[in-house]
Amino acid sequence: MVVSILQRFIFPPPNSLFVTAMSVISFTSLAYTGFSEVRGRHLQYSKFWNVISPESGTRREGKQIKLSSRTGMLLLYTPAFLAGLTSFVIFPHQDLRLLLLDSALTLHFFKRIFEVLFVHKYGGSMVLDSAIPITLSYFLSTATMIYAQHLTQGVPEPPVDLMYPGVLLFLIGISGNFYHHFLLSKLRRGEGDKEYRIPKGGLFDLVLCPHYLFEIIDFIGISFISQTWYTFSFTLGTVFYLMGRSYATRRWYFSKFEDFSKDVKALIPCVF
Ligand SMILES: NC(=O)c1ccc[n+]([C@@H]2O[C@H](COP(=O)([O-])OP(=O)(O)OC[C@H]3O[C@@H](n4cnc5c(N)ncnc54)[C@H](OP(=O)(O)O)[C@@H]3O)[C@@H](O)[C@H]2O)c1
Repeated sequence: MVVSILQRFIFPPPNSLFVTAMSVISFTSLAYTGFSEVRGRHLQYSKFWNVISPESGTRREGKQIKLSSRTGMLLLYTPAFLAGLTSFVIFPHQDLRLLLLDSALTLHFFKRIFEVLFVHKYGGSMVLDSAIPITLSYFLSTATMIYAQHLTQGVPEPPVDLMYPGVLLFLIGISGNFYHHFLLSKLRRGEGDKEYRIPKGGLFDLVLCPHYLFEIIDFIGISFISQTWYTFSFTLGTVFYLMGRSYATRRWYFSKFEDFSKDVKALIPCVF
């Protein structure tokens, strides 16, 4: 029953061991990383770049290779951006769905690089041990989304076409994400300012991580454009990761600001 409903919205699973394995690996690794965030084991960037690991009970900062946030973030996003860009050359006669997916992914990572260079005002650092798995995850997932889409060429379309609603959701997601990144950058008074302040404006009065919420909408849009099992499993994994990270972020705000309002949720207004 559930499978027959899903078949109305998703292309049949591809005959590819690589894509099938990646669907399982991406979902489980992202969901597990989100669960680890809740348990206090953080990917070490932004607010959590030098946190104490509950296992070791020691500050890990001294033992690990540290990058500036800007360098680290560029390392994270550039390979995925290049994977998107290269695919226009590798698959030159693309159907509309593949063309839209390539364009959305390339634009998504181009925007990230633009923000790293011109919008964000970073106060922290990034640990190389965290940067490497994130870089690999973005690069491999982008390449796999495009490859999985390529494998649908010539396969009958799912009965329900979500491609154009997907474009709309993607545009809402990427714009909302950018707007809230802009609001965050306004909290810093200059390049050297590393202070954290309570964010205001946009959806920040309702949730602490509206930029994550719009990131999820962006990826739901990409899944709708694509309608492959791989993009849906990656997006679901991303939802679990960002739920975990936003939960940890909210806990961090409560520990830092005494008068912090309990009405401000982590990710979904009034709910979570
Ligand atoms: N797809 C995914 O799985 C995924 C996962 C994570 C992130 N992302 C994307 O990457 C974007 C950024 O994520 P992130 O985790 O780095 O976000 P973040 O921790 O909220 O940081 C974003 C920027 O805002 C600054 N900032 C955050 N809170 C602040 C405050 N209270 N006062 C002053 N400045 C503050 C940060 O400075 P500091 O660097 O000094 O903390 C950083 O420059 C997300 O919105 C999303 O688009 C995607």
